[in-house]
Amino acid sequence: MIGRLNHVAIAVPDLAAACAQYRDTLGANVGAPQDEPDHGVTVVFITLPNTKIELLHPLGDGSPIAGFLEKNPAGGIHHICYEVDDILAARDRLLAAGARVLGTGEPKIGAHGKPVLFLHPKDFTGTLVELEQV
Ligand code: CO
Repeated sequence: MIGRLNHVAIAVPDLAAACAQYRDTLGANVGAPQDEPDHGVTVVFITLPNTKIELLHPLGDGSPIAGFLEKNPAGGIHHICYEVDDILAARDRLLAAGARVLGTGEPKIGAHGKPVLFLHPKDFTGTLVELEQV
């Protein structure tokens, strides 16, 4: 059911420092910061030959990654995103298998403008999983 790895998201306490490290030290193709007020984050996409890295930084009050950074002050891997062809079919299959879908269970439009869902990390070996319909 799941397809390609779309991205790995890393929460960072200092977005400018993380961008500089990926661009200058690691030599990666680093995009411009994009504010996503609906998601409470500022996002920077790093394009690699086979996937993307998504740097996440809190935006505004009540950001969903603020608590993560409190627990992980140096930053850390926040979620991984797998591509699916049909997000509603994927959701229904996962629910039938007993997995928990976060939020209302209805897909939201994610940072790439595509429908996304998040799955409870406790159901997936301690990893927050995002599904994106491509
Ligand atoms: Co993501």
